[in-house]
Amino acid sequence: MGFFWSLTMIIIYHLFTATLISSVTSLSSNNLSPTPTEFLNFAKKREVFDWMVGIRRELHENPELLYEEFQTSELIRRELDILGVSYKSPVAVTGVVGYIGTGRPPFVAIRADMDALPIQELVEWEHKSKVPGKMHACGHDAHVTMVLGAAKILKEHEKDIQGTVVLVFQPAEEGGAGAQKIIDAGALENVSAIFGLHVLPNIPIGEVGSGSGPIMAGSGRFEAVISGKGGHAAFPQDSIDPILAASNVIVSLQHLVSREADPLDSQVVTIAYFQGGGAFNVIPDSVNIGGTFRAFSKQSFMQLKQRIEQVITGQAAVQRCNATINFFQEKHPFYPPTINDGKLHEHFQQVAGDMLGEKKVNDDKPVMGAEDFSFYQEVIPGYFFSLGMEDASLGPLEHLHSPNFRVNEDALPYGAALHASLATSYLLKFQQDVKVAEGAGRDEL
Ligand SMILES: *[C@@H]1O[C@H](CO)[C@@H](O)[C@H](O)[C@H]1NC(C)=O
Ligand SMILES: *[C@@H]1O[C@H](CO)[C@@H](O)[C@H](O)[C@H]1NC(C)=O
Repeated sequence: MGFFWSLTMIIIYHLFTATLISSVTSLSSNNLSPTPTEFLNFAKKREVFDWMVGIRRELHENPELLYEEFQTSELIRRELDILGVSYKSPVAVTGVVGYIGTGRPPFVAIRADMDALPIQELVEWEHKSKVPGKMHACGHDAHVTMVLGAAKILKEHEKDIQGTVVLVFQPAEEGGAGAQKIIDAGALENVSAIFGLHVLPNIPIGEVGSGSGPIMAGSGRFEAVISGKGGHAAFPQDSIDPILAASNVIVSLQHLVSREADPLDSQVVTIAYFQGGGAFNVIPDSVNIGGTFRAFSKQSFMQLKQRIEQVITGQAAVQRCNATINFFQEKHPFYPPTINDGKLHEHFQQVAGDMLGEKKVNDDKPVMGAEDFSFYQEVIPGYFFSLGMEDASLGPLEHLHSPNFRVNEDALPYGAALHASLATSYLLKFQQDVKVAEGAGRDEL
């Protein structure tokens, strides 16, 4: 009885405070100090803009691959030192975690990924990558610059920050699950929410896009070695042909999504390589195939993984071949789906709407790409959005991971100001929520 009674009281209390909180947050929403527009104007100031462009170009010239971001880390620390921002380093091999504000709770994080890609840059320009075969072809140079830009804005307004903004510079987004290492290092302990962004070439400059719920897929990679018995191509009876077996494996794998998955639950299985043989008259001993699989929920993802294994082994066996399958989980942990928190979505729409105008805040359709920001969202509420770079005067911008990828540097102030505004206004709301909850508690006593 007593237990049920207190439970009822707790529920009534929570309903009561929830109502109060929502009414106060909506009142305070137009009262952010300083406003998102002021942050944007600050970031667009000539000297701030030029400083950001300089950093971005320095990063672009010196790309480093996953877990090798030592110079990048040094540059970040150099700039944080100049700004007078305290930080922890190294976190997760090359990562840096900075702190701006009161140093006390609440804590809110903004995140930038630091690594480049093993791609030879083909863009001919003054600040082309100086490292053969490596390139910032995914805009992480811009992402790092934007969080540094946010640091400058936040430092300028540090006295107004109602808590602490945690700057997360993480290594190894491209397949190395750097986010998981940041979490393992305890850097997100006591952090209430995290924001992250990605520059995109096909959204107009000054516009953003995102959504609530799943926005990007969970992703894994696999490889299978299908082994038979090599021999002379003119005597198939003396061989066990792995090329035919692998071909049937691939065809069968394509039935998983088309025949076994719910058509309304998007999934992908792609075989991206097929390697075997080398002569026109020799049946090889074995064939390697590999690719990626994606799904929007953990359950669908694990189901897909299990069926990929079964289909490869089973179908190879039909043709008397053996198969071994590797999911590379040690080196490349599966990326969970990127799932945006609903409350943070409202917060984002409000802040971005204030800064850019409501019409510039688009609803993005979910995509099958993956992002290691999702690891954070498994631990705390997180929000990931895309930031536009498209500008007719620059001509068409190539897509991410292209050797011709270009960053529109005019996007830098937007990224910096959005990071800073999302974080500070989150803390402001959070403080008010806590005060209201405390107030409501006293009323009830
Ligand atoms: C998190 O909060 C707890 C309780 O206040 C404190 O003991 C702990 O040191 C905090 N951790 C970090 C990393 O700040
Ligand atoms: C498959 O594995 C079994 C058991 O190890 C072995 O006896 C057989 O020779 C293998 N077959 C091929 C085609 O490699």
